[in-house]
Amino acid sequence: MHAGGLNTVSIYTHWDQVNPSPGVFDFDGFRDLAAFLDVAQETGMWVIVRPGPYINAETTGGGFPGWVTTLKGDLRTNATDYEAAWTPYIQEICRITKPYQINRGGPVILFQNELAQNDLTTKYFDQVKKVIIDSGIVVPLIFNDRYAEYNFNEEPNAPDIYGLDSYPQSFDCSRPKFWKPVVDTYHQYHLNASADVPFFIPEFQGGAFDPWGPAAPGYESCRTLTGSDFESVFYKGLWAQNVKMLSIYMIYGGTNWGTLAFPGVYTSYDYGAAIRESRELTDKFAELKRQSLFIRSIRDFVDTDVISTVNTSASYIVHLRNPSTGAGFYVVRQANSTAISNVTLSMSIDTKTGSVSLPPVSLTGRESKVVSADLAIGKSTYLRYTTASILYAGTIGSRDVVFLYDRLGDTSTTSFVTPKNSSSSIGPASFTSSFTLDISTSTPGLSAHTVSESLLVLYADADTAGTFWNPLIPSKSTFENFYSFGTNETVLVGGPYLVRNASISGATLEIQGDLDATQSTTLTVFAPSHITNLKWNGLSVQLDNSSSLVPFGALVGTVTPTVATISLPALVDWSYKDSLPEAELSFDDSKWTQIKPGKLNNPFPPFYGDLWLYACEYGFCEGANLWRGAFEVGADKPTAVNLSLSGGEAFAGSAWLNGHFLGTSFGNSTNNLNIVSSTNQTFDFPADSLVSGTNVVTVVIDNMGQDEGQGDGYNDPKHPRGIQGYSLVGGGEFKSWKVQGKLGGNSHFPDKTRGVTNEGGFFAEREGWHLPGFPTATWEKRSPMQGLATAGIGFFTTTLALNISAGLDVPLSIVYDGLHTAGSNSTAFRSLLFVNGWQFGRFVSNLGPQTIFPIPEGILDHRGNNTIGVLLWALGSEGASIKGLSITSGGVYAGGVGPVSSDNPSWSPRARR
Ligand code: GAL
Repeated sequence: MHAGGLNTVSIYTHWDQVNPSPGVFDFDGFRDLAAFLDVAQETGMWVIVRPGPYINAETTGGGFPGWVTTLKGDLRTNATDYEAAWTPYIQEICRITKPYQINRGGPVILFQNELAQNDLTTKYFDQVKKVIIDSGIVVPLIFNDRYAEYNFNEEPNAPDIYGLDSYPQSFDCSRPKFWKPVVDTYHQYHLNASADVPFFIPEFQGGAFDPWGPAAPGYESCRTLTGSDFESVFYKGLWAQNVKMLSIYMIYGGTNWGTLAFPGVYTSYDYGAAIRESRELTDKFAELKRQSLFIRSIRDFVDTDVISTVNTSASYIVHLRNPSTGAGFYVVRQANSTAISNVTLSMSIDTKTGSVSLPPVSLTGRESKVVSADLAIGKSTYLRYTTASILYAGTIGSRDVVFLYDRLGDTSTTSFVTPKNSSSSIGPASFTSSFTLDISTSTPGLSAHTVSESLLVLYADADTAGTFWNPLIPSKSTFENFYSFGTNETVLVGGPYLVRNASISGATLEIQGDLDATQSTTLTVFAPSHITNLKWNGLSVQLDNSSSLVPFGALVGTVTPTVATISLPALVDWSYKDSLPEAELSFDDSKWTQIKPGKLNNPFPPFYGDLWLYACEYGFCEGANLWRGAFEVGADKPTAVNLSLSGGEAFAGSAWLNGHFLGTSFGNSTNNLNIVSSTNQTFDFPADSLVSGTNVVTVVIDNMGQDEGQGDGYNDPKHPRGIQGYSLVGGGEFKSWKVQGKLGGNSHFPDKTRGVTNEGGFFAEREGWHLPGFPTATWEKRSPMQGLATAGIGFFTTTLALNISAGLDVPLSIVYDGLHTAGSNSTAFRSLLFVNGWQFGRFVSNLGPQTIFPIPEGILDHRGNNTIGVLLWALGSEGASIKGLSITSGGVYAGGVGPVSSDNPSWSPRARR
């Protein structure tokens, strides 16, 4: 993000992750907020801390820990038990954040009071605000008014900076070329709602989430819906409305590993964002960088006000001016913001030297352009106007540099007025000569134009401009990597996949970055004139003096990665063990939790029955939960059991009687339609399955996570997971129920490293079979592709030996071959994927859509042995097998920073429960 020219990162903290049970806080390992803030400081990124308590974020319970979902009081209100629950969490986040605030030399500039959407009560909002302030937070408090509804925009309850969130394309990516129009009323809304503070959008659409189900379009469609054309039209649409602080949700979405997801999304939270889940950059990132570098280098743009809006049948043009410097900007787009036709617009603009009828300005379909005028640049340049887009404008060494670009095939006109000598003050009156540059991008690439001794103009097509990086040269100050605070010194580096950092020592510019390892890359560098040597990742670059750009002061050289290919092994040599001993009548469940009759906290009543079989009430809030209900067979012989199961959208639950499979009840989601989050089903007992005396029904339920709690649905995170009703058909009654889930529940789970959201309640998980080092010598040799011959749950594990050269960064993913078609429930299955003990995938063969599971950096040892575990739950009587499992890579990147290994503790014996 820093390399892309952005200056701030906005983060949610996750209550469940750091406070898994009342009074227990854990900020170790991946939860280390202080370490994150240190990295932000070092990198040069300001931080917006958004702790909630409620965060939404498509995460389980909207961030609420399981134990909070069993409180009696209403969530997100001033209920006493709820207040007692969140207060210590907010205090802990404040305690860690306090020394990192900007007034103490740290990177934190803003702090969020609740997620704060509509329908929150003032009392609760004020309670959270008071705790934050009493805990030493002094940076401005912010807020996220969903739907722009004037909530909390006035004293005494207002946060310091009011803001609204906006997702103009919503979240259905199934028609990715269909756009809803730009909302042009935000500026007026801001003037009404919060004119006295800078216009802040704490969340604006940067992608979309994607739900379960065969009709779910997948994240590449979301990336198309919110692609670089969307960024161009919609983000510039916000510039035109005087938005001064814009935070994009998400720039990097990552992975809902373990049990992090809420039921409405699957494992990937790629979000169709600018940076892929696999950490790879997309063309959305290039557009973000073009926009960010413009805003970063043209300081005059920041202080502009809206002067006028001209709306014709063809165009929509907003004129912005900086009141102190007079710099002007015209944000231009088609009148119909969703139009896809190419147009050529005629427009005239005001400049300090009179109005100018511009040569035609062309827009290629969904594109927005900024025409700049009256811009003082660097030491001595005055730009009268340009119809080209500006990538960068500033001083590099002793020269002013203006980098312009157009879409390929476009033509633009730029008029400079240059001073006689560079020491004269700038402004039209003191300029003596003018120079007009008509340029067009007929072929891709970069051209250079010397306008005067003191001004270099670079010009490229938009794609070539998108390969340019503008790394900061750090200074020796507290904010050494923060643009305009610690440093204003930059260089331009064109060509590489990524430039992370640059520094200057003597006559050498040292660049750190990543290359597409499959090809050579030509570096084109503009640096201060005393730089005569280049180093790329520590190695000297041979300079090519024959390049036509050299006379313009460019340093040009080719860098060639030494290792270009990698080979990835097949996943073979699997070992197998049954993971459903609980279905057998003889299974010893003496250590399971006995359900006690009586009214528990949860306000959602069961359909029938007098026991409350909600797993989280017993501490089993994450992942699968298992139940054993016992009944006696005497004179009355039941013929079936009726069960009401609740696991959340797209769940499944299977039942057995004395080891005999009874069937599976299927939840559903079809791209968020036909949602089934609980079922009621009667399961017939097969002939001869009853025994005399005690019989046991075993039920396994997949918990898809807790629901979110927005607006009127503030208590929805309480929706129970478990058995909502049960009865025997044809006589008899259950005499007792027992429950099992994650080993140790949410207060005594053994794996503190991977945390409360890694394991669920399957036998394999409780035993730790997924962890590296579990002894499997006695296991049967069988692969997940052989699978299970009948309904059941099994666990497969193998070792994956990787040998990827040092210095290569290779995003790796595990691929499940072949979804089932919808409806093929008799061979359907669910699967959990474990990599070195971390759960990084939940695959549902009859729903999908996800088949590729990226494994984040640090989890796999790229030069050693890795443990892969696959849990297979065959849902139908025909059994199930995985069609294929393999490991695949995205791009291969040379240099930069290779994988950082995380803590992957090995198995040690666990007490059985
Ligand atoms: C916002 C919310 C985010 C996220 C987003 C949709 O309103 O603040 O947390 O849920 O919607 O992705």
